[in-house]
Amino acid sequence: MEQRRILIGVTGGIAAYKVPELVRDLSRAGHAVRCVATPEAVSFVTPLVLQTLTGEPVRTALLDPAEEGAIDHIALADWADLYLVAPATANTLAKLAHGLADDLVSAVALATRAPLLVAPAMNVNMWRHPATQQNAERLRERGVRFVGPDAGELACGWEGEGRMAEPEVIAATAGLALGSRTLAADVVLVTAGGTRERVDAVRFLGNRSSGKMGFAVASEAARRGAAVVLVAAPSALATPPGVRRIDVESAEEMREAVLRELPVSTVVVMTAAVADFRPAAPAERKLKKEDLAESAGMMLELERTPDILAEICKEKADRVVVGFAAESHDLVAAARRKIARKGCDLLVANDISASGSGFDSDENAVHFVWPAGEVEELPSLPKSEVAAQLLDRVEKLREPAA
Ligand code: C5P
Repeated sequence: MEQRRILIGVTGGIAAYKVPELVRDLSRAGHAVRCVATPEAVSFVTPLVLQTLTGEPVRTALLDPAEEGAIDHIALADWADLYLVAPATANTLAKLAHGLADDLVSAVALATRAPLLVAPAMNVNMWRHPATQQNAERLRERGVRFVGPDAGELACGWEGEGRMAEPEVIAATAGLALGSRTLAADVVLVTAGGTRERVDAVRFLGNRSSGKMGFAVASEAARRGAAVVLVAAPSALATPPGVRRIDVESAEEMREAVLRELPVSTVVVMTAAVADFRPAAPAERKLKKEDLAESAGMMLELERTPDILAEICKEKADRVVVGFAAESHDLVAAARRKIARKGCDLLVANDISASGSGFDSDENAVHFVWPAGEVEELPSLPKSEVAAQLLDRVEKLREPAA
């Protein structure tokens, strides 16, 4: 098994006394483990214990010259394949949610490109406080994983939610969060966002796609070890770590980029909302209303854009191709017709009329529609989870037939 590197950020809660057990569980699972700690954490667990178990010095200060000289905090952040903050106090969750970096544990969280897993531990009232809940929600939306907290007897004397999850459960979750590298042999091409079709020098025809679904697929594919190319129509989203991004504007530019990247791709996921029509004769200069009669309307002649998905399905070879369909009514029937027409391996249909789903939402309620017409209906899930479910299906399709 390939050895993976887990950096544990220990913060100042009583549950820190369980971190030595966590280190042992992770080491037994074959991982390389290092620890960083806040100054408060070392009141609950000594650096010497952690150093003895990990075989590595434990840094506790952000700007200590001697510690920075041995291994600076950026090098530590780069070293990690997974950053696990355990226990995560309410204070640390707040810092992570807002991007503060005034101690080593939170600074590493900002600097690392590794996935983040947190194991909260605190008094039940602190956990239930709306401020903490909002911070947790914010982190989840950003793709941060949580393990626990569990309910039960708390060290502070209260009963309720707030206990750190058991070390063996945290260790198992860390294994999952590390990613399976199940797509390490694949090149995944993803399209995302809404295309813009030029009307004149300043105007375009566009649509409401935010690109979030495609960016989530690209991010998850990279986490699973794939080489990922993201062909992105204009989007304000940041490029996910480990992803090569190609920016395009129109359907035609998207088509050219996709066709260029296609020969080496083994998986194609087309989430982009591609315009179906574009102005037939876009104007070089800005169209002016003064050029028209006072009360005249204006006709804009539209022509069809190329259907990129249908085109690449014609020469699919053994590539897996997934299409998306945004429908406002008659979802499943339309999706069945669409998969038959386009010829892809899987169609992901979402109902854009439902609230909390589709355009610009962080969640999506989708149906997976298969070529023979079977349908899997998923509940509303964060787009990162929809991406994970989708890539689980893609991996099955990539498995050589037995
Ligand atoms: O035909 P419709 O736009 O509903 O199909 C949606 C699916 O087809 C999406 O996967 C989208 O990315 C793709 N598509 C395309 N080229 C077009 C229109 C849609 O690749 N011109």
